[in-house]
Amino acid sequence: MQKRHLLNLITGAALAVCGLAHAQDNAFKIALILPMTGPFASTGKQIEAAAKLYMAQNGDTVAGKKVQLIVKDDAGTPDTTKRLAQEMVVNDKVNVLAGFGLTPLALATAPIATQSKTPLVVMAAATSSITQASPFIVRTSFTLPQAAVGIADWAPNNGIKKVVSLVSDYGPGIDAEKYFKDRFTFNGGQVVETLRVPLRNPDFAPFLQKVRDAKPDAIFTFVPSGAGAALMKQFAERGLDKAGIKLIGTGDVTDDDILNGMGDVALGVVTSHHYSASHKSAVNQKFVEAFQKANNNLRPNFMAVGGYDGMRVIYEALKATKGAGGGEALLAAMKGQIFESPRGPMFIDAQTRDVVHNIYIRKVEKVNGQLYNQEFDTIKDVKDPGKSK
Ligand code: PHB
Repeated sequence: MQKRHLLNLITGAALAVCGLAHAQDNAFKIALILPMTGPFASTGKQIEAAAKLYMAQNGDTVAGKKVQLIVKDDAGTPDTTKRLAQEMVVNDKVNVLAGFGLTPLALATAPIATQSKTPLVVMAAATSSITQASPFIVRTSFTLPQAAVGIADWAPNNGIKKVVSLVSDYGPGIDAEKYFKDRFTFNGGQVVETLRVPLRNPDFAPFLQKVRDAKPDAIFTFVPSGAGAALMKQFAERGLDKAGIKLIGTGDVTDDDILNGMGDVALGVVTSHHYSASHKSAVNQKFVEAFQKANNNLRPNFMAVGGYDGMRVIYEALKATKGAGGGEALLAAMKGQIFESPRGPMFIDAQTRDVVHNIYIRKVEKVNGQLYNQEFDTIKDVKDPGKSK
């Protein structure tokens, strides 16, 4: 780099720091980095809406600080997430990094959190290993091993003995495949084939043909939030439902954001997950009503809840540290938080910094003309099984 260029950069950065420090001494800044465009935009939209709802309900002054939410679009591209995080840590002096719509985006940014000692709150991404990528990561979403073992316990007791697994070919899919298969096999079931579909622009048709040929009792699937509608459509188009093949999975496939648009093919699909918009509790009812009112009747999905609870964890950490800030103190105040989320009871395990919550077994049913994941069984206080090794 040329000397003059370098000098300009340094001067620019120094000025920015002075200006900001002066003008915004009293600000507490949360960088919310999300895919707001591209194939995973529904995740960004849900989380942004939930974070804004939390702020509207709880005010934007906490422990004497003015909370500022800075939303940035990474379009689901890891290099962009990392660059945006770096810029916001260096230039904007953000106190917390938050969001992270996909596993590769969280993993790319983990080193920035470690180097700058900035807490990084994962509100969406769900591969088990993410929390091990930096001691500054705290997670309020869920993990795929947590979700997958629930359905692996339910299925063999409900006539499903032979399964083909079909997952998106990256971190969370591989976690789902492994933890489903291990538990299902332990329970006496058999996974006869494991298929992995590309994450980007997936064409499910050739894979579904293979499933048809294998004639399993059911297909077990994980696809990321937003992708379930295409899978379900092709599942019906290929006649798998008519051939008597059931579809089970983690609840990502019957995501509340898109479930109602799937039509009757989704009826009866059983999944295990940590959140359903129809979860029966006063806290959830209030959350769903307020979310829909503020967002043109959009139904919140599990991504929204990860964002809402993530804001709660940040707000309470700010209160507990009396607004003093400091990444390490904030992080310490995030660990061990225990509260009632719209999903049910949850806490942040102080050792792993990961979420512990109930996993529910749900079946898609029509309620007042709309499709919902109706919870009918609860596995209480599930820790991430991926952390026990
Ligand atoms: C992830 O990339 O970690 C991820 C994305 C969407 C989901 C679950 C996991 O629904």
